[in-house]
Amino acid sequence: MFDVYQLPEEHRELRKVARAVCERKVAPGAAVADETAEFPQASYDALRGADLHAPHIPEQYGGAGADALATAVVIEEVARVCAASSLVPGVNKLGTLPLLLAGSEELKRTYLPPVAAGDALFSYCLSEAEAGSDAASMITRAELDGDHWVLNGTKYWITNAGLSKFYTVFAVTGRDKGSAGISAFVVERDDPGVGFGAPEHKLGVKGSPTRAVYLDDVRIPANRVIGEPGTGFQTAMRTLDHTRVTIAAQAVGIAQGALDCATGYVKLRRQFGRAIADFQGVQFLLADMGMRLEAARQLTYAAAARSERDDPDLTFFGAAAKCFASDAAMQITVDAVQLLGGFGYTTDFPVERMLRDAKLTQIYEGTNQIQRIVMARHLLRGLAGAELVGAG
Ligand code: CAA
Repeated sequence: MFDVYQLPEEHRELRKVARAVCERKVAPGAAVADETAEFPQASYDALRGADLHAPHIPEQYGGAGADALATAVVIEEVARVCAASSLVPGVNKLGTLPLLLAGSEELKRTYLPPVAAGDALFSYCLSEAEAGSDAASMITRAELDGDHWVLNGTKYWITNAGLSKFYTVFAVTGRDKGSAGISAFVVERDDPGVGFGAPEHKLGVKGSPTRAVYLDDVRIPANRVIGEPGTGFQTAMRTLDHTRVTIAAQAVGIAQGALDCATGYVKLRRQFGRAIADFQGVQFLLADMGMRLEAARQLTYAAAARSERDDPDLTFFGAAAKCFASDAAMQITVDAVQLLGGFGYTTDFPVERMLRDAKLTQIYEGTNQIQRIVMARHLLRGLAGAELVGAG
């Protein structure tokens, strides 16, 4: 009975495998990717070699078939050493989930196997310069012209843009219908009319390119629509319910990396004739970091299980896990820099990078203010809370 509150054996084994690969082959490139803002190709090759680059893709499409909890464990382990690299499995899941949730069998069979094989990455294009938190106010449009859709507009802050071969693009197909007039499409990098902005200069997660995606009269076959026209916004929101769990896992991983570094450091660093780990003030800080981290991890795993079961309270749990874990990661990485003092503020140690990387987890896939709106709406509608939790 008490097996409930620990990871299943296969997930613990997966963590060991992922940790070994990440420590040996991903960690060495993390600082360089941060410094040069270049995609860590060697890390990608290592993740691909170990089938950790898109583990969520079901076996029938050539994937590893990892469940949501296993995918979270993989992302956590990659993020522990390199947040930018963790966006490989993270964004592959984000980009392909609209297909998995709502796409036709034909689309799935066409676009999922290349991602599973590591021959293609898949990005998600929802945001626009004037439509960030208010995603439904997008103006990118798609018009039906015979048996083709023609897309026009600009998507903003697209993770892995340019690098990805495939894109889920949300666009307005029914004017004046609000969110009910939005549809989802698969766009290919090589479709005529697709272009990319210059890479954004970011505070952190620099090894993962972020660029605008320009759509200039992009003609795509009608069968590239994902689900029925007009259902795109629901698909976008359902996707985020699941993938906010992966951002939570990323935050947990970054925080674990910072805590591991700080714990090692305070045992070695000597001041006033003893290791600073002997001082109670340092111990209290460490204890709070560990406590917050573990709470974030447990909430993330609880959300991942809901994602796997597609429970009715996933929307609440996805938002709660993402919000709590990213806030925890921010605090933990700030505290880690504090524990390392002057060294922590330099690039000699990874904690200043982790601090900058953690910040993004409070912003993307919906700011934490949006997560609180989502949670409150669900509480007020009686769609989350003790009874539903009990039922789960
Ligand atoms: N599942 C299914 N349907 C949903 C849903 C969900 N979780 N949430 C909303 N919907 C449906 C609603 O039921 C409603 O449909 P009906 O009209 O038929 O009832 C419709 O969608 C509109 O819902 P709302 O009225 O709640 O919509 P809203 O305009 O008030 O917006 C919001 C809601 C939660 C604020 C949403 O706009 C949002 O999540 N904003 C943040 C956007 C975001 O997360 N962007 C991240 C971009 S991706 C990214 O960051 C990727 C990266 O780089 C890695």
